[in-house]
Amino acid sequence: MTYENRWETVDVNVENGIAWVTLNRPEKKNAMSPTLNREMIDVLETLELDQDARVLVLTGAGDSWTAGMDLKEYFREVDTQPEIFQERIRRDSCRWQWQLLRMYSKPTIAMVNGWCFGGGFSPLVACDLAIAADEATFGLSEINWGIPPGNLVSKAMADTVGHRASLYYIMTGKTFSGKEAETMGLINKSVPLAQLKAEVTELANNLLEKNPVVLRTAKNGFKRCRELTWDQNEDYLYAKLDQCIHRDTENGRQEGMKQFLDEKSIKPGLQSYKRTG
Ligand code: COA
Repeated sequence: MTYENRWETVDVNVENGIAWVTLNRPEKKNAMSPTLNREMIDVLETLELDQDARVLVLTGAGDSWTAGMDLKEYFREVDTQPEIFQERIRRDSCRWQWQLLRMYSKPTIAMVNGWCFGGGFSPLVACDLAIAADEATFGLSEINWGIPPGNLVSKAMADTVGHRASLYYIMTGKTFSGKEAETMGLINKSVPLAQLKAEVTELANNLLEKNPVVLRTAKNGFKRCRELTWDQNEDYLYAKLDQCIHRDTENGRQEGMKQFLDEKSIKPGLQSYKRTG
């Protein structure tokens, strides 16, 4: 499936199982406009059904991942519209930036190649994993132009970064680097920009080897369980585990046990079972 020029503000290229999704407004630092938000909903829904796209990487064109919400098109131009219009505009942005992305049915990696500001933190944290360039610059810049962090940015910080660091950056608007983001736990790892794509490709290839049904259950189960009590988690996670076994047409659980217990061909502590399908 080729997606060449299908979307105006997003570029999509599916290659060797990896869907490279590039926010593509480099002249505006990939700021997230209402058009981009609507297109991203379509991109995510389309790729979910594309069997060739098995891991999704979200990145940005040029020197930015995204400079956050578009101050002109998402804020100023919407201010003059009927109040109800703002509801729709906000809903679109939430729809892809965290609702769809956070519980996406395929593994997702944020590949942060440059500027990453404000509203960009919602999709950043909604992605399962995040690798950034050392040279990337992050910032909760809202305070610098007169609003508290919008969308689910504060929630995203609270879910990943500690109390002190979150408030420090929310309140000062100071920037931080890829390495600092790694130390804070906002991302998994920071590497030199020249190695970024190779690093992300290696990670994506690791995920491509895994059983996709088990992977989905594992990652989404973890995300949900943060918000449930221990008792609710016991019910929920066991229900998901049973659902996973029921849905897994390649029968990974039986295969994994067979390879370890009967054939003695793998050590699950050290490697994945060999998928036969
Ligand atoms: N919304 C709308 N337009 C934006 C934008 C945003 N968030 N970020 C950048 N742009 C536009 C600029 O207005 C400029 O447009 P123009 O060429 O029509 O004047 C263009 O993108 C290039 O940006 P510029 O500021 O010239 O680039 P720079 O390399 O000097 O600085 C940034 C890059 C990212 C540091 C700077 O653009 C910036 O601070 N952006 C705002 C970041 C922010 O506060 N985001 C939070 C939003 S929630």
